[in-house]
Amino acid sequence: MVPACSYGPRGPESEYVPQKAAIITGASSGIGRATALAFARGGYAVVLAARRAAMLDDLASRCRDRGAEAVAVPTDVACEQQVRDLVAACVERFDRVDVMVNNAGYGLHALVHQTTTDQMRRIFETNFFGVFFGCRAVAPVMIRQRQGHIFNVSSVIGKRGAPFNGAYCATKFAVCGLTDSMRVEMLDHNVRVTTVCPGLTDTAFFDSGEGHSAHRKGSFARLRGLAPPDLVARRIVATVGKNTPELVFSAGGKILTLIAAVSPRLADWMMKRYHDDLAGPRQASRRRRRGRMHKQDT
Ligand SMILES: NC(=O)c1ccc[n+]([C@@H]2O[C@H](COP(=O)([O-])OP(=O)(O)OC[C@H]3O[C@@H](n4cnc5c(N)ncnc54)[C@H](OP(=O)(O)O)[C@@H]3O)[C@@H](O)[C@H]2O)c1
Repeated sequence: MVPACSYGPRGPESEYVPQKAAIITGASSGIGRATALAFARGGYAVVLAARRAAMLDDLASRCRDRGAEAVAVPTDVACEQQVRDLVAACVERFDRVDVMVNNAGYGLHALVHQTTTDQMRRIFETNFFGVFFGCRAVAPVMIRQRQGHIFNVSSVIGKRGAPFNGAYCATKFAVCGLTDSMRVEMLDHNVRVTTVCPGLTDTAFFDSGEGHSAHRKGSFARLRGLAPPDLVARRIVATVGKNTPELVFSAGGKILTLIAAVSPRLADWMMKRYHDDLAGPRQASRRRRRGRMHKQDT
């Protein structure tokens, strides 16, 4: 539970309590939107960033309905200057940044050898450089405050690669590495840095990504079920101020991470089987039959 914070009554006898402020990127939809609402409910002022201004405005008014101050700052996280301006806007308005959630990102569904160089560069611009720019811009503010918490959103498949997601996984692995490094660097400054690894979550992610991932949302839902974005949001808010290296969601995600560390070969087998199943039961059993025949032939 986040302590409610607000401007205290300013007067000679009362102590001024600064309002806590959280910046959330990718706030126009899904996990980012749910996280913004959760911080607003927790008494934070929220600074909302994404490219779609109208959706940010709508969210800002919902946050205000919950009694929070809210500012919409249309931002493309792939542009470093825009991310600097985002952090500056928060400092200018609230004099501080207590939490930064670097969440903006999208998926790319493609085989590695069919991923174009341009696609690879573009997904890194948003999913990795967007996070890096956020960290770079906010760290000096938090160091000065001697307080703050940065959350970088990766993925369960930023811990173990998955077929058809090579480019996406590469960006999310990069986020994990960056975040692990920064966490230790920030220890002496009392700034916390946490990696967030959601599992399959029910958002527009599957529709908004590149490649033919849209039809797969149904397959994922059929096989595993999708977690509500609010689950991730509430865990992020509850983790503020704690020295938590990472939040890995879903039992499946935790098991996969563990197995991948102990036996990469077993993890490969699980991934292959899982993705065959995603293609549908008939295709999966056909592929398995083909695999058995191939073994008999050799
Ligand atoms: N859903 C899942 O199953 C899942 C699982 C693991 C990890 N994740 C991660 O969770 C994060 C949030 O995704 P989601 O599931 O909530 O998907 P979503 O509903 O599609 O939200 C993605 C958000 O990122 C923003 N965004 C994308 N590119 C941007 C850019 N260049 N600049 C600024 N904002 C940008 C989008 O806003 P605009 O289009 O308005 O800019 C949107 O608000 C992503 O990093 C994703 O990789 C999701």
